[in-house]
This record gives sequence, structure tokens and C-alpha cells, in this order.
Amino acid sequence: MAGLLITLEGIDSCGKTTQARKLASYLRKRGYGVLLTREPGGDRIAEKVRRILLSKTNSEMTDLTELLLYQASRSQLTERTIRPALRAGRVVICDRYSDSSLAYQGYGRGLSKIVIKQLNRIASLGIVPDLTILIDVPVRTSLERKRKEKTGRDRLEKERFEFHRRIGEGFLAIARQNRRRIKVVDGREDIERTWRKVRKVVDAFLGKSDSTRKRPRR
Ligand code: TYD
Repeated sequence: MAGLLITLEGIDSCGKTTQARKLASYLRKRGYGVLLTREPGGDRIAEKVRRILLSKTNSEMTDLTELLLYQASRSQLTERTIRPALRAGRVVICDRYSDSSLAYQGYGRGLSKIVIKQLNRIASLGIVPDLTILIDVPVRTSLERKRKEKTGRDRLEKERFEFHRRIGEGFLAIARQNRRRIKVVDGREDIERTWRKVRKVVDAFLGKSDSTRKRPRR
């Protein structure tokens, strides 16, 4: 495929959404055709699935139902939005993707990682991100940031510290298993400092991809 898929990952409130927006505007200024999207959601139907997943009133949802709904959202977004954009040569930036299912539903909830990897492959139509930026923050920092946000807490944000700790460890384990694809960025500092690190990773990656097989349209 002619385009590039860049995903951002990390625990809740790690700051990846802000970094995804900054990255999108940076690449647009550099002349790339950019599509910024997110998971769960990003597409009309997938956004409906997102509302079911994050609703505070759905606390009786089983872990398996949750996993399948994330995958349903992913298959919808991938087939209708991500794959066409990649085929058109665009740079797709996705706020969370398959690694989130492995980290949250696998390491966090304890569902089978083998099954999740298979479902990830099916729902993403075999598309693997070209570059993944993992914004790494300690669980304590993320929970403190969340408290400051003052927005109503969604169903998942009520989960315990221990759950988030497992997810954070899970993301780091996934990064260790995919060293070439996943770059870990320390997200403990302020937005601008973190952004400089993200930009450095992306610049290095694009420098490489421009001179080798990938050549996203500018
Ligand atoms: P998001 O809107 O990115 O929340 P935040 O900005 O706080 O990181 O994601 C919503 C929640 O969905 C988040 O708690 C992580 C969770 N999630 C999963 O558990 N599995 C998945 O496959 C995905 C994509 C998200």
C-alpha cells in the first residue's frame, strides 16, 4: 500500500490525543495528505459502538463482549476509512489501534493474547502500523492528570490503579516484542517537550521511509 499508518498508544490520559493532533498538523504543513482518526470510533457506525463501550451505564458488559465490540469498531473503521486512505497514498494517524486491545483486554483483563492477536489480524484486515509511538507515563501521573480534567468519568476510567498498571506494563512488553515498529517516548514532561521527542521519532522514520520503499504522497 502506498500510504503510511502511524498509531499512537498508551494508557488513559497519557497525552497521546494531543500529540496525535500536533503530529497531524505538523505533517500537513510539510505537505503530506493526512487523515487523523481514532479508536474506538472514527466512523459513523464505529462511533456508535464507541458510545456503547464507554457508557457509564453499561457496567454489566462482559469482557468478551467488550473485546468483540472493540474489534467491530476496528473492522468498520479499517475497511471504510483506513484502508482506502492508505490506498490513496495518505498518511493515516490513528489515536489507538490493535495494540490497545492486546494491552487492555489481554494484559489488563486477562483474556487470551493468542485470541486477541487473531482477532486483531482479522479486524485490521492484516494491516500493521508502519510506526507506533507509545507515550509512556507512570500510572500515578495519568491518574492525577485525569483527576484534573474534571470531565465526567467514563466506565473504563473508574477501573482500579492495578488494572492500569497491568496495561502500562503490557504496552511496554508489546514494545519490547516489536522494537522496530514501536518507539517508546517518555510522556512525563509537558506537552511541548513530549512533542519534540515525538517529532524526532517521526522525522527519523520519514527520512528512512522516503529513501526506501515507502513514499507517501506530498
Ligand atoms: P480513548 O478515547 O483513547 O481514551 P483516552 O483518551 O483516555 O486514552 O480510549 C477509550 C478507552 O478505550 C480507553 O480507556 C482505552 C480503551 N480501549 C480498549 O480497552 N481496547 C481497545 O482496543 C481500544 C481501541 C481502546
